[in-house]
Amino acid sequence: MNDSEALAEITDELHLPGDKLRRIAANFTEEMLLGLAGKKSSLKMLPSFLGQPQGLEKGEYLGLDFGGTNVRIMLVSFKGNGAYEVIRHIEFPLRDEKKGYDYTQASVSCEELFGFIARNLKRIIKRDRLYPLGHTFSFPCRSAGVNQATLITWTKEFETVGAEGRDIGALLEEALRCEQVNNVIPCAIINDTVGTLLAASYRDKGCDIATILGTGHNTSYLEQRNCWSKEPMIINIEAGNFNLLPLSGFDRLLDELSEKPREQILEKMVSGRYLGVLLKLILVGLNERGDFLPGVDLRHVLKEKDLTAQDISAVLTNAPDSLPYKGHLFCFGYGLMVKTTHDWQCLYKTCQALRNRSARLAAATYLGILRHIDPLLEKPHVIAVDGSLYEKMPGYAAVLQDALQELLAEKADRVKLKLVKDGSGVGAALAAAMAHNS
Ligand code: BGC
Repeated sequence: MNDSEALAEITDELHLPGDKLRRIAANFTEEMLLGLAGKKSSLKMLPSFLGQPQGLEKGEYLGLDFGGTNVRIMLVSFKGNGAYEVIRHIEFPLRDEKKGYDYTQASVSCEELFGFIARNLKRIIKRDRLYPLGHTFSFPCRSAGVNQATLITWTKEFETVGAEGRDIGALLEEALRCEQVNNVIPCAIINDTVGTLLAASYRDKGCDIATILGTGHNTSYLEQRNCWSKEPMIINIEAGNFNLLPLSGFDRLLDELSEKPREQILEKMVSGRYLGVLLKLILVGLNERGDFLPGVDLRHVLKEKDLTAQDISAVLTNAPDSLPYKGHLFCFGYGLMVKTTHDWQCLYKTCQALRNRSARLAAATYLGILRHIDPLLEKPHVIAVDGSLYEKMPGYAAVLQDALQELLAEKADRVKLKLVKDGSGVGAALAAAMAHNS
């Protein structure tokens, strides 16, 4: 087998044509229905106990956004006419090699993690007033009400000990009490997709689906008929756990190597947390077949390192058919140089194939949701999107848009994608406004 055949084999395996996407969409709809009916399904379909906001909510509320290794806290002022303003915000990492701490690892307890968050929260509040707080917690949680959320399982390779099975609201309250923060009133805990849907629909009622395409992946939507309330309710699908999917050998390998094998299969194919890992596995595979960077022991060079979604973005910023940097070299920052056109093609086409598969898979799941909420696409829909892949990876938004166009054909103009930045923080504050006044 010659070199380009090895590459073609991989890119073919990663390509998902329209008919496969339609099958995936149909399976996704079925799994949604099973999940909603409480039957066995890879989709958890978790109730948020919130519907769309009215757009009239007013006042200042705190939003705590905890969804990855950076936590953000913001004070948001809602004006009551669909407008809002972020008055103050702070951001801090849960992991900092230079300062020597990592609150995401297994040697740290969840009490220590929430204690750290509570100490930081003190930096944004004043002593002389009350702050209702909404908390975005972007992990699968089961709730019995808007201010209670039991963590089912960590995702995104978080390992902090003692949190699974615990009420996250209670953990935060306890941490605030220990830090003597008595003027912050936690009112709501929501998923980041729910926050994004709330923030987007505060301005635009047409938004009934929200999705995150970033470090993690997930989607929520407004369910008209649900067993929890007579009113429409936002449901957190936990789409990243969907598993009726055509896996390549590399997906299987990644799954085996992950913290939680056989969980979050869609997320492992779509999200930024895993795209770089897949790239590494594929490039090492090509290298071992003598097809990429011959003469370099790539497995050894990358032993302790994962490639990242940012590496993929960096590759895709360049033109496909020319070597970057005036045709001379491409460095990963790991001392690797891509000097030949063939190696560059291997690298570029693999990055392109991973990006395209991610965006096309996401599009298929949106089709699955649309089929459930509006089978004939009689109404317009806005899908709010947040996350670094959609916002920053070159070509990602265009591939997603094209895939939706291909799948929805003549009805494509009924569905719009809309970038909603900071949705989860603003949405958390809005959830507090809704819960505090209800
Ligand atoms: C979590 C979801 C979250 C998504 C995006 C996934 O790993 O399971 O709850 O919405 O990441 O942050």
